[in-house]
Amino acid sequence: RDILYFNSIDSTNSKAKQLASDGKGEGTVIISEEQTKGRGRLGRNWVSPKGKGVWMSIIIRPDIQPIDASKITQVTAAAVSKSILELGIKNYIKWPNDIIINNKKVCGILTEMSGELNKINYIVIGIGINVNLDENEIPNDIKDIATSLKIESGKKVSRKQLVANIFNNFEELYEELLNKNEITHSIEICKENSAVLGKEIRVIFRNKEIRGKAVDLTDEGELLIENQEGKIQKIISGEVSIRG
Ligand code: BTN
Repeated sequence: RDILYFNSIDSTNSKAKQLASDGKGEGTVIISEEQTKGRGRLGRNWVSPKGKGVWMSIIIRPDIQPIDASKITQVTAAAVSKSILELGIKNYIKWPNDIIINNKKVCGILTEMSGELNKINYIVIGIGINVNLDENEIPNDIKDIATSLKIESGKKVSRKQLVANIFNNFEELYEELLNKNEITHSIEICKENSAVLGKEIRVIFRNKEIRGKAVDLTDEGELLIENQEGKIQKIISGEVSIRG
């Protein structure tokens, strides 16, 4: 298992995709002190200043169906959330792929997959955690929605310890998926640390807006939403906003 460490890079996800398509194997990690072109979901950029965060990507080649790839996001969110909690910092998973504290984002996950209809070639899991950014390092236009572990906990956090925790927890939870084709333990963590369960939410899914109460997560990691008529809808992914 390789860990490739960079001082500066455009994007660890871009690098990981390139290495994966060149044949780099399962478990390779790309980590960088800074990203000059960090990428977020929906084509957004991801601010990644030097030495202030965990900016990393993991290459995996799981023998699962592409349709089950979203399980990887749940496994990753659970691993990161548990790892932050092990540092004594309470945090919440905003399904499916954000980690928040005080309703502001501290971590985002960007999973990118390459494969065919029934075969995954590789998955790159990008993890961005705002660790030791100070208030003045959070750009003004995202001050209301972004924060860091240091800002929220009031103390500097060891990135080394955090990354070590993530490797350990990810390995354990990912093996459950590989060995048993289940993500029971990950889902348990996602439920325990959920920011959305029991709340009225709004989800944009396939260009449609769904409103209702988030009532449960399935064993597969889908979110169950109950609308005003009491009808339950199951969604596999989407952009969630928690209503006031
Ligand atoms: C999001 O929009 O919430 C996802 C953010 C993902 C950021 C991480 S940082 C490491 C990896 N490399 C990237 O370019 N993006 C991901």
